[in-house]
Amino acid sequence: MTAVGIDAIEIWTGNLKLDLPGTFAPEKGEDPEKYTKGLGLNASSFPDSYEDIVTMGANAAHRLMDRKGLEPNDIGRIDVATESAFDNSKPVSTYVAGCLEQVYDGDFHHANKGERKFACIAGTQSLDDAYNWIRAGRNRGRGALVIATDTALYARGDAGEATQGAGAVAMYIAEDPDLVELSAEQGYGSADETDFLKPNQQFPSVDGKRSVQVYLARMREALEDYETAAGDVHPDDFAFAPFHTPFPGMVRKAALLAYRHVIRDTTIEDELADEIGRQPRPEGFDTDDDYRDALREYMDALKDTEQYREWYAETIDPTLSISREVGNWYTGSVHVARASVLKAALEEGRDLAGETLLVGSYGSGAQAEIHAETVRDGWEDEIEALNVDDQLADRYDMSWEDYEEVHDVHNHEMDVDVEEFTAPESEFVFDGWGRMGERKYRYVE
Ligand code: CAA
Repeated sequence: MTAVGIDAIEIWTGNLKLDLPGTFAPEKGEDPEKYTKGLGLNASSFPDSYEDIVTMGANAAHRLMDRKGLEPNDIGRIDVATESAFDNSKPVSTYVAGCLEQVYDGDFHHANKGERKFACIAGTQSLDDAYNWIRAGRNRGRGALVIATDTALYARGDAGEATQGAGAVAMYIAEDPDLVELSAEQGYGSADETDFLKPNQQFPSVDGKRSVQVYLARMREALEDYETAAGDVHPDDFAFAPFHTPFPGMVRKAALLAYRHVIRDTTIEDELADEIGRQPRPEGFDTDDDYRDALREYMDALKDTEQYREWYAETIDPTLSISREVGNWYTGSVHVARASVLKAALEEGRDLAGETLLVGSYGSGAQAEIHAETVRDGWEDEIEALNVDDQLADRYDMSWEDYEEVHDVHNHEMDVDVEEFTAPESEFVFDGWGRMGERKYRYVE
């Protein structure tokens, strides 16, 4: 069976940056380490006044198409995943196609376009849709453009304000891919939850503490479901585990739970038994509370073992490097984590071809998905082509006053006009409103 997966990936960050320990913490009267150590974030990316989900998505897609020598005719689907959409009818993918048609000779009239919504997991669901479309033999030799794009802004003063971010990830899904092959096996953990939602409002209503618990519960359920499809997972089965990263501290919690799960009944659990005992099993306790207390104690001890620390440093920590500098990109976040880890492997000169990634996606509301990806021979060239370091370094570093203005500019309920902070170059920009309330875009050379 021909491999199907991600052939190429491109990242586009918002052009502005908010320094969390330097600028945000003093204004909030918080210890900077709450952000750097607690949440694990140094900075957030923000959109300049001429940027939005369309410009960032189209810019990422344009870079990807140029680099891969793709023409509109090569693309049979454009799916945009976002939770920052501004229209309940016209999908963002039509705007993106309109942008790209300004710079290519051909058009996308024969590409199926759509918009996917299920909070942050919609990016992965769009990958799945593209995979299924190709596997069903409906693609006529063409690939799918999947774009995950978000302006992840919270209301001013919300606890989530520290985890904001803005950026897009474009991916080309095709047969015989250069970057990673997607596994047919998947596991889901899904339930009707009220942890984070936007009931026809721009900024989310969030129960932050609960959202953390829901993430962990659904992720665990998805892992168990994945194991029923693919067999038990052992830490040696995968090189890295990119997870949805609303902030790195969230992944730190998820990783500990995942490690406990995958070492159960393995020689690793046996080896650790002398030092921290065996994992508590529910049948060994009279009450649920006793079992939970024992579990907490075991987890605290596990966290401090050398085995866990080494595994975390090798398998999880390298997935977080870009996220630390950009914050939450919602639908793009797990795809940023994959890019981070492949970039780290490239920088270390590690030969990854043929190795496996265990990918954990999550969307509030809520659903988690686990699948595996096999790294392909062409991965080094693909990752080498990313210019994400330059993009991050080139962002304009906002003062607190700048930040307040930028937040207002992107607040749909405010009508604020602010001079742009950066000069757009070789990119699409927002160019005002049309007569039916549509947004207009233009390419700036
Ligand atoms: N030094 C070191 N660490 C510190 C510290 C200091 N001076 N001060 C605080 N910390 C630690 C805290 O102990 C805590 O870590 P632990 O959870 O490991 O104990 C961490 O920093 C954060 O501190 P608080 O819990 O006090 O922070 P908070 O209450 O202000 O906000 C939050 C945390 C609720 C997660 C908030 O950021 C939020 O609401 N975020 C948005 C929702 C979110 O991202 N949820 C994640 C799961 S849902 C999801 O994944 C979907 C999505 O993308 C939104």
